[in-house]
Amino acid sequence: MLNFTFKNQTEILFGKGQISEISSRLPQNAKVLLLYGGGSIKKNGVYDQAMTALADVEVIEFGGVEPNPTYETLMQAVTSAKDNGVNFILAVGGGSVIDGAKFVAAAYNFAGDPWDILVNEAEFSDPLPIGVVLTLPATGSESNGNSVVTKKETAQKRAFSSETVQPQFAVLDPEYTYSLPEKQISNGVVDAFVHVIEQYLTYPVNAPLQDRFAEGILQTLIVEGPKALAEPENYDVRANVMWSATMALNGLIGKGVPQDWSTHMIGHELTALYNLDHAQTLAIVLPALMYVQKEQKAEKIVQLGERVFGLSLADQAEQIDKTIKAVQDFFESMAVKTRLADYDLGEQAIVEVMANLEKNGLTALGEHGDIDLAKVKEILALAR
Ligand code: NZQ
Ligand code: ZN
Repeated sequence: MLNFTFKNQTEILFGKGQISEISSRLPQNAKVLLLYGGGSIKKNGVYDQAMTALADVEVIEFGGVEPNPTYETLMQAVTSAKDNGVNFILAVGGGSVIDGAKFVAAAYNFAGDPWDILVNEAEFSDPLPIGVVLTLPATGSESNGNSVVTKKETAQKRAFSSETVQPQFAVLDPEYTYSLPEKQISNGVVDAFVHVIEQYLTYPVNAPLQDRFAEGILQTLIVEGPKALAEPENYDVRANVMWSATMALNGLIGKGVPQDWSTHMIGHELTALYNLDHAQTLAIVLPALMYVQKEQKAEKIVQLGERVFGLSLADQAEQIDKTIKAVQDFFESMAVKTRLADYDLGEQAIVEVMANLEKNGLTALGEHGDIDLAKVKEILALAR
């Protein structure tokens, strides 16, 4: 096992009605920036519940954070936060709103252009504290320090990570997810599944506990994900999906083990260029990437097949192929398409993704740093 440090500062408030707890978690004299997305919270009652919970607190609203949040919109939120002198951000929404809150928090006391935080790892100090009301289980952003922001002007989707912007608390009420469109349920399950894979499907380092954690989350998602589509108002199913997505990327399962993240890096370029949903890009890239990297990942692919999909073929090559097929079939069964052509993309997209990866200096991806542009081309060609 590799050395590691582990701390997760986010207090999880899980279950029905937990939103009533939030005012007791705010600083004294709180002046809250309520950050939200395109308005789903106004239709499903979450906005009203948040305002009730904040009845005695001064609230400044900023809505309109888009899926794959943009620098352009978030800079307007920074201006509003500064003009109103807020001292806390409450993000109510999915990963995009939460990631947006982290960027606004970091930019609040930053002297230069905050885009530098994303492209030049510029240091920032005194970020605003953040709380979360989660409405879409997927990214794990509610209890990690990661933020992904897109600059429309240059079609760049970049990430930064700091525990100083990790939420202090996160309300996880499964009932808030009942109003999700089917497509977002599917996206969330696929995203969480791939988060586990990126931390699991590398090479063995004799870390059986991390492996079992990861396999437990994958199995839960495989069983509960399709149920969430079939029985949209089943509370227990929603609760299990929600908790799985949080556990997939709150730091725990990746401690002491090698990590990959190349599927995400390649996928981010597909979103930046063609505005595909985050999970759609992962469903395209992962099966092809597993195939191209099947020698480097052989032992873990065999284990994934055995322990998660119940495959035990005597022939290793066949076990690997069937496991990759099982992953692809799972995505398709969640109604997330797995080929570039399904999204009307072809040869030109491959060229443009490679150019963007090069522009962003992402030319040695994967747990061995061996996924170069030539391999990306091979992966995307296979995913056509
Ligand atoms: O904007 P509103 O109107 O709220 O609608 C949203 C949005 O259109 C809707 N939605 C959310 N909760 C709903 C709901 N609709 C009805 N009922 C509800 N309860 O869903 C749509 C998508 O929301 P979004 O927040 O964009 O989805 P998601 O949570 O999948 O977040 C995706 C973003 O997170 C980043 C992705 O790159 C992408 O930008 N990621 C962040 C990570 C992190 N911070 O650790 C890791 C991930 O790998 C990922 O990269
Ligand atoms: Zn993801």
